[in-house]
Amino acid sequence: MTGLFITFEGGDGSGKTTQINLLATWLEARGKTVVLTREPGGTDLGVELRNIVLHRKGFIAPRAEALLYAADRSHHIKSLVRPALERGEVVVQDRYLDSSVAYQGAGRVLDPEEVRELSLWATERLMPNLTVLLDVPASVAKARQALTEREYDRLEAEAEDFHTRVRESYLSLAAAEPERFLVVNGELPIDEIHQSIITKVSDLLG
Ligand code: TYD
Repeated sequence: MTGLFITFEGGDGSGKTTQINLLATWLEARGKTVVLTREPGGTDLGVELRNIVLHRKGFIAPRAEALLYAADRSHHIKSLVRPALERGEVVVQDRYLDSSVAYQGAGRVLDPEEVRELSLWATERLMPNLTVLLDVPASVAKARQALTEREYDRLEAEAEDFHTRVRESYLSLAAAEPERFLVVNGELPIDEIHQSIITKVSDLLG
């Protein structure tokens, strides 16, 4: 595989979208072919699964929820991400398996190790070259989201202590794999965050 696989993680309202767009523009200015994508919902099938998992009213059993994210991920990696990496392109992706470990694990019902193993099975063990974690306290993320005034999805509506557990889980994932993760304080100015991301990506591009 000759391409570069970069994923972005962080709580809802951590500023991923802004940073992903800045990075894509920077990469394209350097002549790279960039595939911008996301989970859930990076494929046609994924859009259908995203609707179910984020907007369906009513209870979804925790294992079923984990399987829906894994189904989205499996199809997305097989049909879109791996082919792009094989063509030597740069894939910049909003959320990947760390989201499942952090969010589905934070419900306290599922074992985070099992959730991770499920995603690894689903993707034939594809790991990112770099995962950027935008770290912000749950209270800050919530305040930012209130400004956007759109309807909350199922997970955004969870209580603040859920989001605090998501954050803690992300930080321990990053501590366990310091080579793969770049943790950036998401409260820094937008351009400062962007600079630390492109410094790291420049290294990877060699
Ligand atoms: P996203 O589209 O990134 O929403 P936002 O722009 O609000 O951050 O993600 C939607 C939600 O899906 C988000 O609350 C996290 C959740 N999610 C999981 O719980 N597990 C997963 O595996 C993924 C990929 C997302």
